[in-house]
Amino acid sequence: MSEWILSENTDGIVHVRLNRASKKNALTSDMYRALSEHIHAAAADIQVKAVVLSAEGSDFCAGNDILDFMQSGFMNGGVEDLPVFQFLKAINYFPKPLVAAVQGQAVGVGTTLLLHCDLVYLSSDARLSLPFVQLGLVPEAGSSRLLPKLVGHQRAFAWMTLGEVVTAPEALRLNLATAVVDDDVLGAAMVAARRLAKLSPSALRHTKSLMRDPDDLWAVIVEEGRIFREQLASPEAAQAFTAFMKKSA
Ligand code: COA
Repeated sequence: MSEWILSENTDGIVHVRLNRASKKNALTSDMYRALSEHIHAAAADIQVKAVVLSAEGSDFCAGNDILDFMQSGFMNGGVEDLPVFQFLKAINYFPKPLVAAVQGQAVGVGTTLLLHCDLVYLSSDARLSLPFVQLGLVPEAGSSRLLPKLVGHQRAFAWMTLGEVVTAPEALRLNLATAVVDDDVLGAAMVAARRLAKLSPSALRHTKSLMRDPDDLWAVIVEEGRIFREQLASPEAAQAFTAFMKKSA
């Protein structure tokens, strides 16, 4: 498993941490594979009551690792077989509570994965951005369906196309977060997870299942992925990624 993903189980709460702070926790294929394995293991273990997702360093996640993304054969094979989609499938179908603790920047999938979490705690410095269209791409992880439902079409469209950054108070106002926390955001997420761990697992599982429609959402995620891949071959996307790689070289 990737050393950039850490996991520990304390009293039935699995804490999964992104551990690649030097690269703003940008996600590689190996990281997606490790995340999927941890999520599947947590789903299968009846002793596990909830998963908390957090990240090391000043920022939660800079989205897909652009270099890895360009080199890892994203264009080959079925969309659903790609590590990122395996991860999205794992969180989309995860039947137990998923709690996120987010600080600093959350970019791209770093933000869209939050839409699959049941409780989202943002530190007051959290900033959420969705640069997909700016990069010549389309939104992913079901965000094209989930975001308009949450915040309304016009707000979602502006956010997804104009490259706006949503601050923590704004995210709370838009129903994208459970709470904004001034000091210990991970502590707040852990307290909530411990409270959930005391509840009836079947009541929690049924409640989550009643509130979500993962089959419907999975069809949207696969369709987004198909178009995302087409767009990746566009001149605008090639230009945006080449510019990022030149800057990082
Ligand atoms: N993929 C690969 N590497 C990334 C990355 C990504 N998505 N995001 C950041 N990094 C790397 C940078 O290349 C840099 O590496 P280096 O120190 O070896 O040069 C390091 O992480 C720190 O990033 P930097 O840009 O210097 O930090 P910052 O605080 O100035 O900005 C971000 C942080 C997240 C705003 C900025 O890095 C960014 O915009 N990243 C791209 C995000 C993106 O477009 N993601 C969507 C991909 S689909």
